[in-house]
Amino acid sequence: MFLRRLELEHFRNYTELSLAFHRSLNIFFGKNAQGKTNLLEAILFLALVRSPRTSRDAELVQWHQPWARVYGVVQRHARHEVKVEILLYPRGRKVIRVNGVHRRRLAEVLGEVSVVLFSPQDVEMAKGEPSLRRRFLNMALCQTSAEYYLALNHYRRVLEQRNEVLRRAQAPGFQRDWLLPWNEQLIHYASVLIHHRLQAVESLSLWARETHAHLSGGQEVLEVHYQPSVPLDGASTPEEIRHSLRSALERLQGEELRRGNTLVGPHRDHLLLRVNGIELRTFGSQGQQRTAALSLKLAELRWLEHNLGETPLLLLDDVMSELDEERRRRVMDLTQNVEQIFITCAQERTFSEAILRNAGVFRIEEGRVTVVQNEIPTGVGG
Ligand SMILES: Nc1ncnc2c1ncn2[C@@H]1O[C@H](COP(=O)(O)OP(=O)(O)OP(=O)(O)O)[C@@H](O)[C@H]1O
Ligand SMILES: [Mg+2]
Repeated sequence: MFLRRLELEHFRNYTELSLAFHRSLNIFFGKNAQGKTNLLEAILFLALVRSPRTSRDAELVQWHQPWARVYGVVQRHARHEVKVEILLYPRGRKVIRVNGVHRRRLAEVLGEVSVVLFSPQDVEMAKGEPSLRRRFLNMALCQTSAEYYLALNHYRRVLEQRNEVLRRAQAPGFQRDWLLPWNEQLIHYASVLIHHRLQAVESLSLWARETHAHLSGGQEVLEVHYQPSVPLDGASTPEEIRHSLRSALERLQGEELRRGNTLVGPHRDHLLLRVNGIELRTFGSQGQQRTAALSLKLAELRWLEHNLGETPLLLLDDVMSELDEERRRRVMDLTQNVEQIFITCAQERTFSEAILRNAGVFRIEEGRVTVVQNEIPTGVGG
């Protein structure tokens, strides 16, 4: 798929923007704090209806403005054009239309436009808290499976309620039976999540390993494992996973009551990363962590492509400047098969003449975009 055009009104520091894009490669130059990341954020928002930087939509609305509008026209292979429009209000209300039709539920929008973003903060995925790696999995799976997205929302609600009950365990009059209905629901949604995650990690690990090997010039082997908080003992079908979860909950009931918390389930599972046999989070170098994070993102791209039958848009925020020339070249090699890429960058000399000649080139200054070059008409091809 590719993004034909984007319109913004009162989004972050963009008062008004209307821009047509190059069919394959778009490069945005600009000094710090001009709106480069804001532009990529808007494109990601179009796809996921969430920001990679904040969970408060109010921050996306331009200061002192009553609303923001994000509108994009995406050309999909198999289908017609998809026109997504999102209106945002500072109190968090959103109005979403796809091809003019009002969509009430987020689940009806996810998957219409698909995006993978890689930014410098993503190195945290390799070296930060386990929750960041779970979020990576959730993002990939929510874009490809409505079942996963719905199960995740239910699971979070059930977990909260169950913890609420567990917290009352020491209070007088508490009855263990109160947990039973929550247990069943927890087991049900947890098994859906774990089942999907196991399958996803099987593919993601292969692709991430391949990409990492390429980026490191064959020097490093990246391993990606899903490490569940309950022993699965080979269980892989939802039925078998439910069985393992049920035994674990029975075994841990005493401790859960004492600690007032749910101790097992997908919210406690780990995505374990190793490079050349050592744990990346604790022992990896900065460069290894950055390369692994990029490999995971490119693996996510292939996962989405595999599931949707189309390549997602790839957004690379300020990543080139951090890489040496060799790695930059390898990144460009790896993205050869991606249909459309958006790259932000501080300096023009980061890219060779040959690359710039075949790209849309834009300059961003204080929330305004100037087209430096965009000769190939976006309407051609597809
Ligand atoms: N809601 C908002 N309304 C108006 N301006 C905003 C809003 N949110 C952020 N900004 C401004 O947008 C500006 C540009 O932010 P952005 O993150 O896109 O910069 P950037 O070009 O990516 O810079 P860098 O190279 O430092 O990453 C910031 O100066 C910030 O003050
Ligand atoms: Mg930025």
